[in-house]
Amino acid sequence: MKKYILSGCMVLATALAATAGEVDMNRLNAFAKKMVESKNQAIGYPINQNVDLQEFYRWFADTGLANVAMNNVGNPRKPAIIHLNTHQFENEVIDFFAPNFGFKKDDYWGIVTMSGTDGNNHGVYFGVKYLLSKSKKKPILYVSEEAHYSIKKLGDLQNLDMRLIKADIQGQMDIKEFEKALDPKRPALVVIAMGTTFKGGIDDQVAINKVLQKKKPIAVYRHLDAALFGGYLPFSDHKDLVDRTKHHFDSVAVSGHKFFGFDEPLGFFITTNDVLKRQNPFQVSYLNDAVPTITCSRSALGPLKFWWKIQKTGLDGYRQQSAMILKNAAYLKQRFDELKYPAWRNDFSNTVYFKRPSQWVMSKWDLAPDFDLRLGGNLAHDIVMQHEGVDTIDRFIEDIKKDMAETTKK
Ligand SMILES: Cc1ncc(COP(=O)(O)O)c(C=O)c1O
Repeated sequence: MKKYILSGCMVLATALAATAGEVDMNRLNAFAKKMVESKNQAIGYPINQNVDLQEFYRWFADTGLANVAMNNVGNPRKPAIIHLNTHQFENEVIDFFAPNFGFKKDDYWGIVTMSGTDGNNHGVYFGVKYLLSKSKKKPILYVSEEAHYSIKKLGDLQNLDMRLIKADIQGQMDIKEFEKALDPKRPALVVIAMGTTFKGGIDDQVAINKVLQKKKPIAVYRHLDAALFGGYLPFSDHKDLVDRTKHHFDSVAVSGHKFFGFDEPLGFFITTNDVLKRQNPFQVSYLNDAVPTITCSRSALGPLKFWWKIQKTGLDGYRQQSAMILKNAAYLKQRFDELKYPAWRNDFSNTVYFKRPSQWVMSKWDLAPDFDLRLGGNLAHDIVMQHEGVDTIDRFIEDIKKDMAETTKK
């Protein structure tokens, strides 16, 4: 075995060494062609393929920035020691989103993250520190079993006591189970799902808050995992769902590459000044200040691209896109209903989940699988993003019809 691995490495090293100084363009071009051709059929994951960053990258190369190593290490709101950064743009990205989530002017702090998980990591970590500062006790983490696995992993990473709360058939946290599990003698770190990964269930914040008010844990921190729906909800008719003036959450994490259309993972995290001030300051003298972020070196390119996209799209653009994906998701559900094909869609959701079709359909359309006995077993879902218009939905439904005909014949 050892010999095999060694010889594999040697072959790779030789191949790379032989081509040093040259780039195998044939290989790269074939790869690029395949990716570009496949992108419109990727409908199983919540990634907007309408990226459109050519103009940005042209500007980036033409100005010479492609030859500058920038780094957003440190607190973007404080003067930086490393001046080659894009903190000014990062702050403006956060300034754009904070009011859309109901954060009050001058009472928020945030960063552009490298993903939704990075934002959740900050949410869970900041939540633990906040609760320790209020109660001197480590919290229990409450999260629905259908919430994203990143939360469970992050709880594990911090060695937290975790209560996985059962979810109902639509993927929403079961409130009775939450009430039963809630221990008022320990601080509560509640992670609320704004769109569960598979079914697009939205946890009921009103009901969660009622339980918290009734049982009164010694301290409470609410983190909104809005990685999935936090992109479009603030720009929809249902924006109250992610408005902290209505629901009083303490932090929110959103994925950037899902709704907003980026070529790589991105996101943002926003919290309040009160939460920020209760963090371990970790004074770092060579960076001129306390560094609240978990991650040290951070991308400078990500915030710059985000800023560019916001400038190009604007509030109205996001509103139109938000309305369009919800309308198209409703259309997809209607097409399934016409076929009497088992399919479901939660309120305010761009996810349609349905009986899992044959493997050729799964592979062709890059669909994600799941399983729920309550809904008959094998499932798949389509998350309708901006690149999945009516034409694509119709083509997909043609394949579902073909599959139905083939499976009844068997
Ligand atoms: C509900 C939810 N939370 C968190 C994440 C993780 O986000 P990311 O992939 O940006 O790390 C996802 C990803 O699909 C998600 O659906």
